[in-house]
Amino acid sequence: PLVPAGDLVTEAAAARRAVAAFNVITLEHVEAVVEGAERAGSPVIVQVSENAVAFHGGRLLPLARAAAAAAAAARVPVGLHLDHVTDDDLLRQAADAGFSSVMYDASRLPHAANVAATREAARLAHARGLWVEAELGEVGGKEGAPALDAHAPGARTDPVEARAFVAECGVDALAVAIGSVHAMTTRTAALDHALLARLAAAVDVPLVLHGSSGVPDGELAAAVAGGIGKVNVGTALNVALTGAVRAHLDRHPEQVDPRRYLAPAREAMAGTVVRYLEVITADRAR
Ligand code: G3H
Ligand code: ZN
Repeated sequence: PLVPAGDLVTEAAAARRAVAAFNVITLEHVEAVVEGAERAGSPVIVQVSENAVAFHGGRLLPLARAAAAAAAAARVPVGLHLDHVTDDDLLRQAADAGFSSVMYDASRLPHAANVAATREAARLAHARGLWVEAELGEVGGKEGAPALDAHAPGARTDPVEARAFVAECGVDALAVAIGSVHAMTTRTAALDHALLARLAAAVDVPLVLHGSSGVPDGELAAAVAGGIGKVNVGTALNVALTGAVRAHLDRHPEQVDPRRYLAPAREAMAGTVVRYLEVITADRAR
């Protein structure tokens, strides 16, 4: 069934667990995330980023409606979340398009401007019944953003600032910069677990890890044990998809029916979803 993504995060975090959120671009991504979650027997979040909406010509509805329909038919709870929103118009469309939660991203702005923009966006979103995630510190590697040193002091989330930011903006979850970077195709990121512990102690809303494709399994499990309540994975699905398409077309260069290569690509993504879910949704007490 389709359930509010915010409820999945709140319930997971209260039980000191995490929910995995996978970014989707195509219908095959959506099908793979739902299939993987059903195989793993785990709840999951399907998330559509503003960049994915831009890829679909700025139109939110086609992919959102497909994702909502797939979620409604799923044998596990599936949340639908709008990710990395910077455009207020898109934020205003979210509820009507079937989303009950959004991530509003003003983290590129200087601190005071991030606070002001996020507070206003949270007010607007809450008035529409949306659950709101925001970001403080900056997780680098975003499309169109200048390269960022993940280890630079300004790139990391400061616990004292984080506590004040959540109170001032009234957000329901906080994305934190603790060493992960978006769009990594190797799993070599090292997380600052001491910083995560301080953030978890300082902030009383669920914490969100972005850029999780580049984080090794052990680091992910430790991050969940250390207080991360939502784990965002995107690039790993694209690594699986593209690898499968490339391998298939190398073997069958004469084929033109996209179903021939999209079927193994979708299966590869579903396998990736299962593997991440095994790490992310495993019981912390294990
Ligand atoms: O919001 C989306 C995530 O942070 C995905 O990051 O593509 O590096 O896994 P990733
Ligand atoms: Zn992200």
